Amino acid sequence: MNPTPVHVAIIMDGNGRWASQRGLKRSEGHKAGAESVRKALKAAMAAEVRVLTLYAFSTENWGRPQDEVQGLFELLSRYLESEADELLRRGVRLSAIGDIEAMPAPVRDGLAAAEATAMNEAITLNLALSYGSRAELARAARLLADEVRRGARTVESITPEAVEQKLWTNLLPDPDLLIRTGGDMRASNFLLWQCAYTELYFTPTLWPDFGEDDFAAALEEYGRRERRYGLCGA
Ligand code: IPE
Ligand code: IPE
Ligand code: MG
Repeated sequence: MNPTPVHVAIIMDGNGRWASQRGLKRSEGHKAGAESVRKALKAAMAAEVRVLTLYAFSTENWGRPQDEVQGLFELLSRYLESEADELLRRGVRLSAIGDIEAMPAPVRDGLAAAEATAMNEAITLNLALSYGSRAELARAARLLADEVRRGARTVESITPEAVEQKLWTNLLPDPDLLIRTGGDMRASNFLLWQCAYTELYFTPTLWPDFGEDDFAAALEEYGRRERRYGLCGA
């Protein structure tokens, strides 16, 4: 029924449980999860998905033990460093959403190095880092209020489109499909505005176990959905 989704977003959840099930430390789960990122990107490219947004670190994740947070950032900067050339070569444009300024320097440097991928067009790999929808919407409200205060816009000009322009995702289409691994069925402060009409797909598979076949299965299920957008349908 549906063609390939243009934008797929993923809440990559279940790394910690994957590790505990094996008697390993949570950090081992995150390490294994990084491998799944490579697989998901490969599968998305094979399916000609144009944007892949990955929820890598939420505003709430700052509340985890410091060594876990630190470990996640190290993994992230290592991923960016080791993959930079490969991403460039394969036509991947790297981008990020969230409070990037809050990220430690090695992560910010890794992202800055990825600016070399700006002209790439095969796929956009969009990382959500220190991302929270509520922070994003509050920021949009502040930016709009400031423009009103400066006389740069009227109160009446604040439409959904105007709000959208102030979101971190302003240059991206809304996700067509949101996948959450790990079995929980909640949004966890991810793309709340953008997912107004996104198809949701939940799987019990833990993120480190999520492979190319699982990605293909999600796309297949998406293909069977009827998107009505509040209208009457077929
Ligand atoms: C997702 O896995 C990764 C991040 C949130 C960074 P979790 O670490 O949340 O794993 P579980 O949910 O505890 O199993
Ligand atoms: C969502 O997973 C955040 C990321 C995957 C980065 P969490 O594990 O943080 O979400 P909750 O706590 O289960 O809602
Ligand atoms: Mg979790």
